[in-house]
Parts: sequence; C-alpha cells; structure tokens
Amino acid sequence: MRIIRYHEYGDPDVLRVEKVDPPVPGSGQVRIEVEAIGVNFIDTRLRRNAVPLGGPAPLPGEPHGDVVGRVEALGPDVTDLRIGDRVAAWSVHAAYADMVLAEAARTMKIPDSIEAPVATALASTGQVAINVREVGRIAAGDVVLVHAAAGAIGHLLTQLARLRGAKRVIGTAGAPSPEKVEFIRRHGADVVVDYRRDDWPDRVREVTGGQGVDVVLDSVEGRVFKAGLDLLKPFGRLVYYGFADASEDLASVRMTDLFGIKYVVATAFDAWLAGAPEQAARARRELIEHVRGGRLSVAVHAVLPLEEAAEAHRIIESREQLGRVVLTP
Ligand SMILES: NC(=O)c1ccc[n+]([C@@H]2O[C@H](COP(=O)([O-])OP(=O)(O)OC[C@H]3O[C@@H](n4cnc5c(N)ncnc54)[C@H](OP(=O)(O)O)[C@@H]3O)[C@@H](O)[C@H]2O)c1
Repeated sequence: MRIIRYHEYGDPDVLRVEKVDPPVPGSGQVRIEVEAIGVNFIDTRLRRNAVPLGGPAPLPGEPHGDVVGRVEALGPDVTDLRIGDRVAAWSVHAAYADMVLAEAARTMKIPDSIEAPVATALASTGQVAINVREVGRIAAGDVVLVHAAAGAIGHLLTQLARLRGAKRVIGTAGAPSPEKVEFIRRHGADVVVDYRRDDWPDRVREVTGGQGVDVVLDSVEGRVFKAGLDLLKPFGRLVYYGFADASEDLASVRMTDLFGIKYVVATAFDAWLAGAPEQAARARRELIEHVRGGRLSVAVHAVLPLEEAAEAHRIIESREQLGRVVLTP
C-alpha cells in the first residue's frame, strides 16, 4: 500500500509516496480502508518542525489526519466495531495512506449517506468547533468574533454560533479576497474584518457600536490575541485554541490586562475528549444530526489524489482554502 512520509523538514516537496506493507492492528486498534483524509493546518507546521509545543516533530514524519473509511481488520480487544463498519477516526497517525490504523476509542460509526470528504469533518474539525463553542459558553444574543473564519474549523464555528442564536457574528481573515469575504458571510458572518490591517480592532468597535464583543474565538494568537482581549465586553470570554500566527509574534499578556472582568480559556481537543467524554459523545451525535439535517454545511475546498499531498499542503500554506482540503486514495 501507499503512504506519504517525509524524511527531512521543509517545503511541501519533502512529502514522498512510499510503498509499505499494510499495518497490523494492535490491541484496541482497527485497520481502516481509507475513502478520504481531511488535511489539517497543524501538519503543515509539523512538516516544517515549526510547532512551539512538545519538542521537535519526529522523523520520519507521517502526518496525522481525519480519516473516513471502512473497518477491514480488528485488533484484539475491540468490542464496539465490526468489519465493514463505515467510520470516521481522529488523531490518526500515518493518516495519508491507503490503509491506516486507528484507536477504536477514537473511531466513530458514521452513516453511509454522508459523503466521505464531508464526513472527514466529523472526525475532528467539527468536534473541535463544538468544543470551542462549549468552553466559550456561546449563548443566544451574544456578539461573537471568529478569527480565521474561512478555515476548516472557522467556517463551522460561524455556523455553530448562529445555530446557538448569536445576535451578531464577525468573521476575520487575512487580506481576504472578495471570494473569501463572500464565503465567510455565506457561512454565517454578518461582517468580515481583515485582521492584517493595523486598525482591525477599530473596525470591530465600529460594527458593534463601540460595545465590543461577548466572545472571541482565537486560533491565531500572535498579533491578534491581545487586541481580542481588549475587545471583550465585561464578562466576555476569549477561547484560545490555536497559534497559527504565533511564530511571528508570541502574545504577551499581563494579569492586569484582564482587569475589566474577562475570562480567558485555552482548550485542546485531546484534553476535552479525556476530560469531558460524555460532552464529546453528545457533540458527535449533534454533528451528525446537523450535517444530515442540512443545518451545518461542510465546505470542501479541494479533493486531491493521495499522491498530491504536497499540493494539499501548498494550498493550506497559501491560505487560500475555503473550508476543508481532502485527499483520496
Ligand atoms: N486546540 C485544539 O485542540 C485544536 C485542534 C485542531 C486545530 N486547532 C487549531 O485550530 C486552527 C484552525 O485549524 P484548521 O485546520 O481549521 O486550519 P485553517 O483555519 O483551515 O488554516 C489556518 C488559517 O489561519 C489563518 N492564519 C492567521 N495567521 C496565519 C499565519 N501567520 N500563517 C498561516 N495562517 C494564518 C489563515 O487564514 P487567513 O489567511 O484567512 O488569515 C489560515 O488559513 C489552527 O490554528 C489549528 O492549529 C486546535
């Protein structure tokens, strides 16, 4: 079978197709015959060894991904899944491949009716979006600022905020094209603000009548983090869940910046799964119902053959994606 790996850090071209034997599932694992793989931003950073967490990325690198497919082999001690089940699996290591191993505990059954590229969003991005919504306690009537709102997670967050009854949703993007602005609006934002402009916080103040916002959902950090904090109304919540811009300018915040009654919460998907398994299980059911019911739309920006993994990374690094980028074997 084919697998995509890299043996040195660098540009997307370091991603190579290799031939290996299918992996053998160990205890608690299943082997999935892959239909589609959702490609995540973090793996472009790991490929460059540019993640400011957890030490150097291991080599050879085998990117993670959101995998959809059918279970075709079971390891020992797997009780809830059967051969032939259609599934989505998250945090799959060595995911850009014809067949992958996934932990059964991180694998959910999904209906046949959801197309594979769309279903990749059930595996992690959709769940991360619900996790962010929950820790941000988004409620009806809130004014919500969603950073990187055209991204794989961002475009789900604008919709989830709307479904919660947010009064106003403001989406941001970096120097967005007219197409990106239209995309963000179509997915639930009332206003789109360009956060590469120095005066972007003034624009948010302007569109909120000087009031600021109840919630900031920040996956960007760097240049925008501190300004997001300043934009919070009293009792406002800032959810910090990513650091796409952190390489340029790490946020530095003093405790006194929180005076004014502001809540800051950081969240990580793995910690949420471990700490709130019931909530995560509910999130998975909610996601399937929203997608099946047509209330949550998963935008698929590009579907590329597995061998074009480098192109998938190039698209994400060029910041042109509107929603998800997907590989198919
Ligand atoms: N906490 C968790 O457990 C968790 C789990 C999964 C993902 N995440 C994080 O959530 C975020 C979104 O993930 P995703 O896969 O959906 O990615 P994505 O939003 O599709 O892509 C990242 C976006 O970040 C924006 N960005 C801002 N500054 C950037 C910079 N200096 N370089 C590159 N991009 C920059 C870009 O949008 P514009 O060009 O429009 O500015 C880019 O498209 C990522 O930061 C990711 O690491 C966190």
